[in-house]
Parts: sequence; structure tokens; C-alpha cells
Amino acid sequence: MKGVILAGGSGTRLHPLTRITNKHLLPVYDRPMINWAIKTVVDAGIGEIMLVTGGTHAGEFLRLLGNGNEFGIDRLSYAYQEKPGGIAEALGLAEKFVGGDDVLVMLADNIVEYSIAKPVANFLNDPTGARLLLSEVKDASHLKHLGVPEFGANDTIIKIIEKPESPPSNFCVTGIYMYEASVFEIIKTLKPSNRGELEITDVNNHFVDNSSVKFDILPGYWGDGGESIEAFWEVNDFVRENGAVKIIL
Ligand code: TTP
Repeated sequence: MKGVILAGGSGTRLHPLTRITNKHLLPVYDRPMINWAIKTVVDAGIGEIMLVTGGTHAGEFLRLLGNGNEFGIDRLSYAYQEKPGGIAEALGLAEKFVGGDDVLVMLADNIVEYSIAKPVANFLNDPTGARLLLSEVKDASHLKHLGVPEFGANDTIIKIIEKPESPPSNFCVTGIYMYEASVFEIIKTLKPSNRGELEITDVNNHFVDNSSVKFDILPGYWGDGGESIEAFWEVNDFVRENGAVKIIL
């Protein structure tokens, strides 16, 4: 399985901080935000990683990460996204790198309290379709800003609704996704959304429609450090006090 870490986008919700740097280079406790995503993917046993980024600070990632060996990466590749055309577009840039293998995708602004080695092992036991990582969200008003799964019989996901007015469950789809290689064919069929992006939720709903989506619920804390300045500091406070990507004993 290959790993793809997405660190493009505009980061407008963290302006003005992101006028002078890429969001994923901002600190989360003692290191740049992206280092937590790298730790998450490497800890899950994935040694071949592509980092997709864009914008005017792309070169800083090379300076930070180099060939990746220091961070446990065996082979680190880079791709440049010319414009922030969406998460699915960014993933599409990794098609040749992934080369027909399965892929673990992680948004570089996501932070998990615990290792995701178990869900990755679950996918590898049955490497078909898509496997999504969900997190329980207690605050209903927060759910209205996220992708929310609707469940049918036998705990299956029957739809994922982006920013729902009435959230159909208390769970969100986090920015960690596992796919079989057919994901790249799905991306090629997507049309830009109203905001002009190729949407990862459309990709995921494609797998939902084929009844080939599975999920795990993340234990412990999950945060998106790019959601707002408050979320950025919440993630910082959490990691400073509790750490992140901890091994589950
Ligand atoms: P978002 O936070 O949804 O988008 P953004 O980074 O452009 O932020 P804002 O809405 O505040 O302007 O993106 C989630 C993650 O996906 C983020 O970690 C960066 C990545 N991403 C890309 O790599 N390429 C893209 O084109 C987009 C939109 C996001």
C-alpha cells in the first residue's frame, strides 16, 4: 500500500497566517503540522509516500523533509498541484506514483490521538473498495460543517452528506481514506462542484453507491487544524497536553 499526504489548498480560513506560509507548515505543538500526518502514515507501516502540495511555499516542504528518511519514510516523492482544484484533484496527481497499488490518503491538517495501524490492517485484510475513518462529533453545530454519513440497516453507510442542515448521524468522515486502485478511474469521471473543486465526498459516495465502502471509528481525539483559528489552537492545546499518534496497547 502507498501513502499520499495532501498539503495543497488555500488555507483561507487561517488567514492572515497562511498569507506567509502553507497551513501545513504552521506549528502543532513541537513540529510543523504535516509531521503529524507523516508520523501517522509511517506508523501504519507505509514506507512509500507522495506529498502533494502547491502554492508559493512548496519548496519549504523539501527543506523540511528532504528525502524523508529522518522521519521513517523509505521513499518520498513530491507532486505539485498548480491550483487548489480540490482534494480529489490533488489525489489524482498521485496516480502514477501509486501505480495500481492500494492507497492510504491523509489530509495533512488532520491530527489523530491514536495510531491508525489497526484500520489499515483491516483494509489490507479485505483490500477492496474504500475504507473511511469516522470520528464521533458530539456538537451538532460542528457536524453542519463536516461530511456526515447516513447509516442504513446493519450499520452500512448509505450516503455521505457534505455540510448537512440536519446531520443524519453523530459521526463525521475524517480526512483519512483508504482506496483500491480504481479510485483513480472514479476521479476521472468527476465534474467540478459549485465551488469549482473535484470533491472527495463525490468519490466516497461513488463507493457508497457500489456498496463497497467500509469504515472504522477512530478511538480518542480527532481534529482538523485548518478548520478555523479556534480549531487550530484546540488541536495545539490537545497535542501539547496529550500527544498524538499514540500506540494503542
Ligand atoms: P480544505 O481545508 O478543505 O481547503 P483549504 O486548505 O483550501 O482551506 P480553506 O477552505 O480554509 O481555504 O482542505 C483540506 C485538506 O486538503 C488540506 O489539508 C489541504 C488539502 N487540499 C489539497 O491538497 N488540494 C486542494 O486543492 C484542496 C482544496 C485541499
